[in-house]
Amino acid sequence: MSETKDVLILAIESSCDETAAAVVKNGREVLSNVISSQIALHTLYGGVVPEIASRKHIEKINQVIEEALKEAEVTLDDIDAIGVTYGPGLVGALLVGVAEAKAIAYAKKKPLVGVHHIEGHVSANYIEHPDLEPPFLCEIISGGHTHLVIVKDYGSFEILGRTRDDAAGEAFDKVANDYGKYEIIGHTRDDAAGEAFDKVARAIGLGYPGGPKIDKLAKEGNPHAIDFPRAHMEDAPYDFSFSGVKSAVLNHLNKCRMTGEPIVEADIAASFQQAVVDVLVDNAIRAAKDYHMDRLAIAGGVASNGALRAAMEAACEKEGIRFYRPSPIFCTDNAAMIGVAAYYEYRKGTRHGWDLNAVPNLKLGER
Ligand code: KG4
Ligand code: ZN
Repeated sequence: MSETKDVLILAIESSCDETAAAVVKNGREVLSNVISSQIALHTLYGGVVPEIASRKHIEKINQVIEEALKEAEVTLDDIDAIGVTYGPGLVGALLVGVAEAKAIAYAKKKPLVGVHHIEGHVSANYIEHPDLEPPFLCEIISGGHTHLVIVKDYGSFEILGRTRDDAAGEAFDKVANDYGKYEIIGHTRDDAAGEAFDKVARAIGLGYPGGPKIDKLAKEGNPHAIDFPRAHMEDAPYDFSFSGVKSAVLNHLNKCRMTGEPIVEADIAASFQQAVVDVLVDNAIRAAKDYHMDRLAIAGGVASNGALRAAMEAACEKEGIRFYRPSPIFCTDNAAMIGVAAYYEYRKGTRHGWDLNAVPNLKLGER
């Protein structure tokens, strides 16, 4: 192995409700990708309960890492660097991964590379697309963030649009009303696309996690049954706001309850999803044209949505834009994507010290 100078990264991800570890070779080849999901546990509470997430991470992390090394058929001695998500995310959850990575790096005298979670999501696209290299346009659509960025170089971004935090109060109020003392999803002040999926799913009684459940139910509904709003901001044409469409769904439900009109969950799911997909596709295609980008990638949990993938693919084909998307398993949280991002950071010389801390609200592009 050593004569070809392969670089092996052990990556750790624990920013939300998945405890994950992976071994990635030369930034593109995933030797193992182990994910221990806590979804079943959090479903009982209707959303991610941060303290439970942290406790579960600490319980699982060693065995997840052990499995990742075993599956990759390597030992810690073969590893060149430890990559770990240090933000954004739930602080207690992040701390488990960061402390673990530091302990391994310290004990084994390996370099430590802290990774931005969103940079990880973007990097998921490199795994299955060996031809993809910056620059390209990327729309990152996850539970806590919606960003439209130009990936100028590995780990270097120009942000064109993002979710605004004018929905912050509303988002927090909703969460507080529904769940008393718990801060659900916790790592955002915006109403991101994934968050809207989760809230609408809860409102129509589908439970957590909302995205995949709406994706499935929407297949049985009419996407044109209800005309939910598509928000476009005049002053910031690539920004996103999903609080309006979420409120429109809640209003629709209230109206039905008051007038006795039947509530057709599948139609609501399909129409809501269509409204979100339309905005995501419109903004991305408009940005691609305005910035003369001929390659567009999507990333993040919502990028696994079937309707979005189909609509974006069709729109890209129509416009002559090359479309990239990770397989669904690399869209939702995983450590392979962190390993890819860590590799490119490692090559650039990024090294974190023993003082690396979790940064719950780490901004894209910050170190
Ligand atoms: O990227 P991710 O796994 O975690 C964060 O970094 O936030 O994204 C999770 C989000 C959740 O809001 C979840 O409901 C949404 O992605 N999601 C989906 C689908 N699968 C996951 N949304 C729509 N359709 C899906 N199939
Ligand atoms: Zn994520």
